[in-house]
Amino acid sequence: MPNKAVCPGSFDPCTNGHLDIFQRTAAIFDEVVVLVSHNSKKQGMFTVEERIELIRQSTAGIPNLTVDSWEGLLVDYTTAHDIHTLVKGLRSGIDYEYELPMAQINRRLTGVDTLFLLTDPKYGYISSSLCKEVASHGGDISALLPDPVARAVRQRFGSRRG
Ligand code: PNS
Repeated sequence: MPNKAVCPGSFDPCTNGHLDIFQRTAAIFDEVVVLVSHNSKKQGMFTVEERIELIRQSTAGIPNLTVDSWEGLLVDYTTAHDIHTLVKGLRSGIDYEYELPMAQINRRLTGVDTLFLLTDPKYGYISSSLCKEVASHGGDISALLPDPVARAVRQRFGSRRG
């Protein structure tokens, strides 16, 4: 049976930090699903379909990775797909405080485990929201986002810089 993992998140949009976690997860597991987990009541910068497409373009070189989306409880997805491990990146103690109760409730609900990979320090300050803020003011986001994502963000803000 292949050893599978899910990397869940809102990925609005996916950053170089996320991409690093996807690559490292794909090196550990046989199959990785990047799961765009969304709430239809919350509007993001990109639609779920756009986020999926951007992740697909950014991860084209990772053969054992697929991209999917889900609305609802994460554990319902993992149970339906017989997946027993979630993988997330941890940038700091703040991330830890945010992630700990989610990991614990998910484990309580179905026994699914969450594996944390420590973010590479070179990506430690990158977040989707900061990238959007920098781009909204015309700042350079080229080192923060995968190329297809940076292009899409610049287009969205109509910026010619960065
Ligand atoms: O990228 P994010 O926003 O930190 O991702 C958080 C996400 C989407 C993984 C989390 O909010 C989630 O799992 N939502 C799905 C709903 C759910 O299962 N909630 C209960 C336990 S977290």
